[in-house]
Parts: sequence; structure tokens; C-alpha cells
Amino acid sequence: NKKGFIFDLDGVIVDTAKYHYLAWKKLASKLGFEFTLEQNELFKGVSRKRCLEILLDIGGIKWSHEQFEAWMTAKNEDYLAQIEEMDESEILPDVQRVLQHLKAKEMPIALGSASKNAIPILKKVKLLDFFDVVVDGNQVSKAKPDPEVFLIAAKKMGLTANDCVVFEDAVAGLQAANKAGMISIGIGDAKVLFDAQYVFSNFTEMDNSFLNSLLIPQE
Ligand code: BG6
Ligand code: MG
Repeated sequence: NKKGFIFDLDGVIVDTAKYHYLAWKKLASKLGFEFTLEQNELFKGVSRKRCLEILLDIGGIKWSHEQFEAWMTAKNEDYLAQIEEMDESEILPDVQRVLQHLKAKEMPIALGSASKNAIPILKKVKLLDFFDVVVDGNQVSKAKPDPEVFLIAAKKMGLTANDCVVFEDAVAGLQAANKAGMISIGIGDAKVLFDAQYVFSNFTEMDNSFLNSLLIPQE
């Protein structure tokens, strides 16, 4: 009886939310307005295109199709410049221990991310080999909170949604996991992540016996 474990990337495996934030902040300031850390919460788990739409809304900016495309490119170039030097030191605490534990139990492991930069990031931090399946922003058409990304991951692992567990730091991601009928585990602040079935502030708080409890068949 296999359980599939689906990990979000940004904010779960690596702390890249701060780099996304800096790149959006830079674009906002170029356009003449402030973009706050609090507003950045809304960007977690949300596609690049949708983030830009929200940002332009916040700034009250009107745009043409061409400008929109140019700003998307500029933001991504800034983001890529920030993560260029990224290495294993940017992996969040105890991520490797959890991945190793699940591997030792021979459980399938998947990535379920909205990012189009997921594979290069996993390569930089040398974690790509842990993943049996990678589903990222290049393969999905409907962004979280739509469950598409996680349903594709389940299918690729050869599992039903009920046999999957999702680790997420974003409200939209937890809602997607719940809609998919998967076990949703929030990584972060319990006050923000109340949609999750379980919440841990980080993987260090989640011990192997909790992971083992998820492997027991549920009625
Ligand atoms: C998600 C992040 O994982 O990926 C979002 O939480 C980000 O903040 C989205 O906008 C898209 O990422 P990228 O790398 O394709 O711009
Ligand atoms: Mg995330």
C-alpha cells in the first residue's frame, strides 16, 4: 500500500519566496509604487502571470499586451539573477531528512509546483534525484487553488488522489490539495494556514513517527 508524497517547491523545499518578493518589489518601484511583504502573501503558490495581474491591480497600472509580456520577462530575469548562485545551503531545515525517510520507506515522491523554474532550482540544490515525478508550471493550465497540478502528480505516480499527501506553504496550495481529496499539510504559520489538515511550522517539527502514521491505511 503506497502513499504518494507531493511537495510544493517555493517555501517548502527552498526559501525562494524572498527572491520572488524582491523581483516583484523592484518592478513595482520601477512602476512607481510600493509592494509590501504582506501583499506578497497573496503571491504564494500563484502563477507568474496571475501575480503580475495582481501587482498591476495593486498599483492601478493600465497596460498593453506587449508591456505585460515585457514586465513578465523583466521580473523573471531579476528572479533568475537572484537565484543564480543558489546551492544546497538554501534547502529549508530537515527537508533532506524527510525526503530520505520517505525514500527509505519506498514511497513515491513528487513535486507539485506552479513555478516554471522548478527543474533548474532542484538541480542547483541537488535534490532532483529524489523526485519520481515532477509537475511544474510548464505542465499545468489551471493555477492553484485549482487541484490540476496535484491530480497530474497523482496520476503520474499511478496513485489515486486519496492516497496522496501534499506539503504546502501557500493558502492556495492547501485549498488545491483539499479539493483534490488529498491529505493537506501546511508548512508555516498555523494562523495563516488554517485550511490545512495538519500544520507544522517547519519540517524540523515533523518527526518520522508522524510520517509513519500517514502510511497506515485509512478507512
Ligand atoms: C510559486 C510561487 O511556487 O511559483 C509563486 O509560490 C510564483 O510566488 C510561482 O509566482 C511561479 O513561479 P515562476 O518561477 O514560474 O515565476
Ligand atoms: Mg509555495
